Amino acid sequence: MANNDKVQIAPAEGKLGVLIPGMGAVTTTFIAGLEAFKRGLGKPIGSLTQLGTIRLGKRSENRTPAIKDFVPLARMEDLVVGGWDIFEDNAFEAATKAGVLEPALLGQLKEPLSAIKPMTAVFDHEFVKRINGPNVKGGGSKMDYAHMVMDDIRQFQKKTGVSRTVMIWCGSTEVFHLPAPVHATLKDFEAGLVNNDPEISPSQIYAYAALKSGVSYANGAPHMTTDMPALLELARNMNLPVSGKDYKSGQTFMKTLIAPGLKSRMLGLNGWFSTNILGNRDGEVLDDPGSFKSKEVSKSSALEYILQKNLYPDLYEKYYHKVRIEYYPPRGDAKEGWDNIDIFGWLGYPMQIKINFLCRDSILAAPLVLDLVLFMDLAQRAGMRGIQEWLSFYFKAPMHAAEVYPEHDIFIQLMKLKNTLRWMGGEDLITHLGLEYYD
Ligand SMILES: NC(=O)c1ccc[n+]([C@@H]2O[C@H](COP(=O)([O-])OP(=O)(O)OC[C@H]3O[C@@H](n4cnc5c(N)ncnc54)[C@H](O)[C@@H]3O)[C@@H](O)[C@H]2O)c1
Repeated sequence: MANNDKVQIAPAEGKLGVLIPGMGAVTTTFIAGLEAFKRGLGKPIGSLTQLGTIRLGKRSENRTPAIKDFVPLARMEDLVVGGWDIFEDNAFEAATKAGVLEPALLGQLKEPLSAIKPMTAVFDHEFVKRINGPNVKGGGSKMDYAHMVMDDIRQFQKKTGVSRTVMIWCGSTEVFHLPAPVHATLKDFEAGLVNNDPEISPSQIYAYAALKSGVSYANGAPHMTTDMPALLELARNMNLPVSGKDYKSGQTFMKTLIAPGLKSRMLGLNGWFSTNILGNRDGEVLDDPGSFKSKEVSKSSALEYILQKNLYPDLYEKYYHKVRIEYYPPRGDAKEGWDNIDIFGWLGYPMQIKINFLCRDSILAAPLVLDLVLFMDLAQRAGMRGIQEWLSFYFKAPMHAAEVYPEHDIFIQLMKLKNTLRWMGGEDLITHLGLEYYD
């Protein structure tokens, strides 16, 4: 498909501020990575923005630049990170407690990590029940809290001299809530902030403060934040991108690799049982039924949308899908996931697939944080506002327009992402038709 109009994208000049509510395992692994790369102590494995390439034009043209050379992304060395947490630990102490990275590596990064101290958090125990901490803002209405966060953002921008800022949630998973009347319009939401409406969560207060401050917002956790009319209205008014939700890093990543493959060969599914053990603070928070419900909903939807049982009733009408997460402290961040997949083939004959994924949660999530920060900044400079569906690739429960279903198939998501980059760069979109080679 021809596309010769390049999108006008403002250059990535100056530093890019990255503001993160929640400075736990994922955030500190991300920050430690940035500092390690600066010192030549590792490579950004898992990051599409740093290692990925993009084919342009016909295969016979042999044009495959690095993504970061094709679109104007901020450079990793230009990122300046700040954040909030309910605990007072600086990033070095938090990384040490999270136990993801080895002490020998952390020791070499002690100075830059110790310099990142969390700002006081907006916290509400009704939304995260299993933890409590001292580093929280006190007094006032939810609107007052929003203004305090806006002030934090201004102070951070002034102190660091960043020219642009992105916010990305890496805080704990909040309790499951559905949109309420207070989320209907921006006016309702602002009245709710003033009246302390119990349906407004801390993450929504951070997102409101970010968008009001001209800062885009991405949600790495499964709870509802910007996926409601009120904050989407604000994002549109402010010309800002939003994206979410829930990093697609481990078991759901595997699920969205395998399910499209089974469907592509018209193999049926009788059941898919997924369970995990993990022992980090995330696991502790998810041990609460309300927070687990947010995760369960986000983890469950992928199969449903990929398999499309309405189109393939013979294959997928009756499968049983179960997702479990068990908090098991000895494992720390080294999660272990098991999947048992009961499939069937020719004449209905049953077969089984077993997956045992010994992963490291935060090692898989950190590159997704990096890519999202860089792509959200790019989207903002390209004038793209509202839901960024092209970033579905990174999320377990991608945000989407009301009139379409979310795209969960990771291969379609990657094609959509790369075609969006081609569109931005004024290159032809790739359809994979390929007939021209055989004329
Ligand atoms: N692979 C992954 O690790 C992965 C994948 C998908 C989603 N996530 C989600 O990312 C988030 C972070 O994961 P993690 O492993 O780093 O968890 P973590 O528990 O190590 O870190 C979360 C931090 O958020 C802080 N926090 C909680 N509420 C806060 C608030 N209102 N304001 C500021 N800070 C707050 C907690 O004190 C904690 O330090 C979780 O919601 C998790 O479900 C992680």
